[in-house]
Amino acid sequence: MAEDPKVAQKSPYQVDLEGGKDYYWCRCGRSANQPFCDGSHKGTGLEPMAFKAESTGTFNLCGCKQTDDPPFCDGSHNIV
Ligand code: FES
Repeated sequence: MAEDPKVAQKSPYQVDLEGGKDYYWCRCGRSANQPFCDGSHKGTGLEPMAFKAESTGTFNLCGCKQTDDPPFCDGSHNIV
């Protein structure tokens, strides 16, 4: 059974993404390279979420790992 994701931080990570590029959003909350996966999910039963940036720009990626709109922040950190 998968472990629960950890709250990496109770606010989003503001990152610059490049349109058309693939990224791996850390879903487990254990990566030392937030908000991206660094392989630390090994053994947790959790996997990163692969996504392609639709456009180049600055985005708020979820840091609390409780978002209902992954990989983006949806404000869920206000209630964790
Ligand atoms: Fe968290 Fe890979 S390190 S999903």
